[in-house]
Amino acid sequence: MKELHLACVVGARPNFMKMAPLLRALGAYSNVRATLVHTGQHYDANLSDVFFDELGMPRPDISLEVGSGKHGWQTGRVLERFEEMLEKFAGAGEPVHRVIVVGDVNSTMAATLAAVKLGVPIAHVEAGLRSFDRTMPEEINRIVTDALCDMLLVSEPSGMANLHREGHPEEHLHLVGNVMIDTLLWLLPKAKSQDTLARLKLSPVDYGVVTLHRPSNVDRPETLSRLLDVLIEASGRVPLVFPVHPRTQARLERFGLADHLAAAPGMVVTEPLGYLDFLALTSQAKLVVTDSGGLQEESTVLGIPCLTARFNTERPVTVEQGTSTLVGNDPEQLRAGLRAVLDGTYKRGHCPDLWDGRAAERMAQVIVDGGTGTVTDVG
Ligand code: UD1
Repeated sequence: MKELHLACVVGARPNFMKMAPLLRALGAYSNVRATLVHTGQHYDANLSDVFFDELGMPRPDISLEVGSGKHGWQTGRVLERFEEMLEKFAGAGEPVHRVIVVGDVNSTMAATLAAVKLGVPIAHVEAGLRSFDRTMPEEINRIVTDALCDMLLVSEPSGMANLHREGHPEEHLHLVGNVMIDTLLWLLPKAKSQDTLARLKLSPVDYGVVTLHRPSNVDRPETLSRLLDVLIEASGRVPLVFPVHPRTQARLERFGLADHLAAAPGMVVTEPLGYLDFLALTSQAKLVVTDSGGLQEESTVLGIPCLTARFNTERPVTVEQGTSTLVGNDPEQLRAGLRAVLDGTYKRGHCPDLWDGRAAERMAQVIVDGGTGTVTDVG
């Protein structure tokens, strides 16, 4: 059988846990050569390196080392360097037959743009999600990426409905489930055996976890300080662990809020955590407050109440079936949600279909079959 050469692209923290199980599943196909490309959008050890070891991922074959910058600059650098890489492979007689991109970060869209213009077909993992909020950079990335991909691997029914509405041909769509949950279910026993809670002096189900990094929550001092006030107030009832994203840390310092937060006795402020420590924390928490898309999904599967600090979500199944409630950045709604959880009146949820730990196998099958049920002719 002819070799099927795939370029698998990761760039930022949430990409790693989606790519890891897919690489493992693709490893079962002897004709697949997977070249792992890290764009370098995230480069800090605790936003990037730690994940490769913990998730059992191979080190990247190629690092594009783009780094941080404005959107146009960052997107442009990935576009330029990824295009160059694809051309080099083609020139060396080892053409890439398909590019695999995941999620909705700038690297996802940029790699897609480079590939499509060189005529390389692209598969998008986590296709079809829409928040319908074009002020979010991720929404732009999702729309552009899906428009250009011919293999759309979808995690929840809303994604299928969105892609149908946008007119994508039926044969491009594949409802395969949520690959990030593969990683969660695989690593949950290991995570629970970590000493994370002891190190942070926490007891199971007697603390909450907070993550905030979206521009809409952290870029304006009044919004961020209002959210912090409610969290600090709640930390009088239950300790709240807050691993702070570098973007948020920079804003806390710029707005003069870092000392205020650090001084609150119930708040446990940490650096960003690795995957296992973070899963150890979330899986045994009483509640989660977050603006992360991934954590909305993870808390749904774990059955942990999740107050989502956003006005909308591209993952509606987490609200309809799961444990997530949208509280926007309204202090009153956040306060009411916290009270409901702490008083024991918060809703329960259940796990959506196909979030079963086997999504990567289904995706690998679609990718290797070329989406048609027959083996791809790689020419
Ligand atoms: C990116 C994604 C977001 C995802 C998030 C997870 C986009 C548009 N956004 O947001 O969807 O939820 O990753 O973390 O792609 N920085 C560091 N070290 C790093 C990387 C970034 O200190 O390794 C700092 C820099 O100051 C940088 C800022 O964080 O300017 C923002 O980084 P960037 O990659 O642009 O976006 P994120 O906010 O991380």
